[in-house]
Amino acid sequence: MAQTLAARSQINGHETARPEIKLGDSTSVALPAGSVDMILTSPPYCTRIDYTAATRLELAVLHPLTKIDIPNLSRQMIGSVRVPTEKIEICSDWGETCSKFLRDVQSHPSKASSGYYYRTHLDYFCKMSNSIQNLSRSLKTSGLAVLVVQDSYYKDVYNDLPKMISEICSFHNLKLRRREDFRIQRTMAGLHPYSRGYKRPMSALEAVLCFEKLGG
Ligand SMILES: C[S@@+](CC[C@H](N)C(=O)[O-])C[C@H]1O[C@@H](n2cnc3c(N)ncnc32)[C@H](O)[C@@H]1O
Repeated sequence: MAQTLAARSQINGHETARPEIKLGDSTSVALPAGSVDMILTSPPYCTRIDYTAATRLELAVLHPLTKIDIPNLSRQMIGSVRVPTEKIEICSDWGETCSKFLRDVQSHPSKASSGYYYRTHLDYFCKMSNSIQNLSRSLKTSGLAVLVVQDSYYKDVYNDLPKMISEICSFHNLKLRRREDFRIQRTMAGLHPYSRGYKRPMSALEAVLCFEKLGG
């Protein structure tokens, strides 16, 4: 892929860019601080999609190159459906909207809300917050970060992920400059037979959030 991109980025036989493809975990990857001009990403939404399972064919094809340990990857994933091994507490850096949402999940009367679901949601926001901290650290001052995120529901509790991500970003020196919303009619949650038992819309809002890294 890098070679093809390199071949396409030649003008009159001269190299104009040197593409590199790197693999890393956004929660821990350490790019040099202030080294990146722009980040474009669509992180996992908080909808309990198990990406290790969803991308098992791709992971199998890439295995000779990546040598990824699948059970470990499944734990590392943002949005992992596995209960985290370490104890995680709500952190003030995650903002008011996120803290309230997590308390609403914890106190929800449905089965396993205060246990399994609360703990996997804590894991999600802990990893997202660490990733956003890394993302901001690696950006140059005035660099851009574009994040595409979707809202959802936990049972009947609204998960306003675009607002929560904006609050986490603001804590990490990222100023929201522009937001574009798109209404998505077909969602995975809408296909789930039990989700129809709760009063909530079957469509979702996909937001494109554009941030600028502030100096200082
Ligand atoms: C909403 S999907 C985005 C897919 C991407 N836009 C594409 O077209 O392939 C979220 C992606 O984030 C990846 N992901 C999950 N946890 C991650 C982590 N800790 N570090 C880096 N990527 C992660 C998942 O494997 C998944 O491919």
